[in-house]
Amino acid sequence: MSANKYLGIIFDLDGVLCSTDEYHYEAWKAIAEEIDINNFTPKDNNRQRGVSRMESLEILLEKSERKFTDKEKLILADKKNQRYKELLNNINSFDLSDEVRVALNTLRKAGIKLAIGSSSKNAGLILERLGLGNFFDVVVDGNSITKSKPNPEVFLKAAQMIGLQPSQCLVVEDAISGIEAGTAGGFDTAGIGGVMSYPKTTYPLRDFSQIMNIVFAN
Ligand code: BG6
Ligand code: MG
Repeated sequence: MSANKYLGIIFDLDGVLCSTDEYHYEAWKAIAEEIDINNFTPKDNNRQRGVSRMESLEILLEKSERKFTDKEKLILADKKNQRYKELLNNINSFDLSDEVRVALNTLRKAGIKLAIGSSSKNAGLILERLGLGNFFDVVVDGNSITKSKPNPEVFLKAAQMIGLQPSQCLVVEDAISGIEAGTAGGFDTAGIGGVMSYPKTTYPLRDFSQIMNIVFAN
């Protein structure tokens, strides 16, 4: 029997396992320019991390003077998704870094349950392209939730599906919305990139391999 505190890890996908967060930015930037928003910045994009497609659109539209109907909003979101999916065609298994691959395999061998908790409706497609289509014990994504991060639904669902309590799982995130969601759900969190120093992040992750230190030291 394992004596580890964390018996499961729930990974966010975009910006954690792969750099698709950069493609989200590029696709939204193209939409922004189409509707004459010329001051859409990475800072705005940071607020879109972890939140659903339509909520991300609302963040973008805060920068527009124009009012858009619901139908126009759906068209814009769809256009962004088409552009984003074109960019996803660039992804293949070489986009999974060695560091991530080694960590995932080491954790799997140690018997840790591994899940995805993503707001994206494209998570299945991305995992396939990375060669991880059948790797995770559980994938909870934007197709199976009704409330996106910072609501904890996605992580609570993943924990339930791997048969663990939130206190037994570590959530790995790159977004404030994701750290908030994990915290609200009763999970400890490991934060990558911009959320390393976010006050609610339990463990800052300078590099991905540190996950092993956290899991095996606790
Ligand atoms: C999250 C991203 O993983 O997925 C957000 O961090 C994105 O930026 C959300 O808006 C929804 O993604 P998709 O692929 O369903 O448009
Ligand atoms: Mg993310």
